[in-house]
Amino acid sequence: MFLRDIVSRITDPEPWSEGENIPWQDESFSPRMLKIHLSQKSDAASRRKSVIQRQVDWIHRAILTSKSSLILDLGCGPGLYLTQLAKLGHRCVGIDYSPAAVQFAQNQAACLDLPCAYLQGDIRLASFGNGYDLVMIIFGEFNVFRPADAMMILNKAFAAMKSGGMFLAEVMRYEALEIIGKSDPTWYSAASGVFSDNAYICLEETLWNKKSHTTTIRYFVIDAESSDVTRYAQSYQAYTVDQYEEMLSQCGFNEVNYYESLGDVSNEYSDEMFVIAALK
Ligand SMILES: C[S@@+](CC[C@H](N)C(=O)[O-])C[C@H]1O[C@@H](n2cnc3c(N)ncnc32)[C@H](O)[C@@H]1O
Repeated sequence: MFLRDIVSRITDPEPWSEGENIPWQDESFSPRMLKIHLSQKSDAASRRKSVIQRQVDWIHRAILTSKSSLILDLGCGPGLYLTQLAKLGHRCVGIDYSPAAVQFAQNQAACLDLPCAYLQGDIRLASFGNGYDLVMIIFGEFNVFRPADAMMILNKAFAAMKSGGMFLAEVMRYEALEIIGKSDPTWYSAASGVFSDNAYICLEETLWNKKSHTTTIRYFVIDAESSDVTRYAQSYQAYTVDQYEEMLSQCGFNEVNYYESLGDVSNEYSDEMFVIAALK
């Protein structure tokens, strides 16, 4: 793309038409993103260790009632939750399609001799196995999937769980996605960053589509040397609480509880997300 393509861009793209997600699975993007997962300066791709530790303690006590369990984490990133859960006596499986994140998680499990298995794969396609006491998908990632894929992931999660098992999803609030979609465009420059090892300018634009109830975020990354432009986009589906409940009941979940956050842990995303715990 060229700079003029930014000027002549469509202003109301169909959700997901310009990309399924940011390129988590890309070989050069994923090590740069891993640094953000591990950064203790912000709660960006993953939360800081201190926040994760408190959230894990809550999952262990309130959701798993401290019983040794088999856990599946969908979109586990570098395994920051599973590493802590395994230290509390749980057996863990994580699936993620970021090569650097999965490699980091596998190294941690090997170094610390933890009962964690990690699979590099797309959760829309990967087989989940079965017998889980807990299947979780956290940090709002459920909403980046097209509704049909989200439903398929829910059905696969249900099938992979034991009867009496729990599905735990930290999802985006409808209102938060609408606010994000209606916010003003922003930009930043970086000598290097998540989108490139070289200097670039990133123009970020968010668009709320009221017909499909989706927010699309576009990133136009301009290489500072060549002025070449690369566009990345991700879309988020907004659901009301009733819609979440309807999807879960269609899959066969029978009891659904809601929490303001993962435990009483407030963090910079507490207003944007809430937690659903559904019993099989
Ligand atoms: C916001 S990060 C959260 C990571 C982790 N849950 C945490 O909180 O530390 C989202 C993760 O979902 C993964 N992801 C997104 N779409 C995926 C897909 N279709 N299949 C597998 N992993 C996916 C990304 O690679 C990334 O690691």
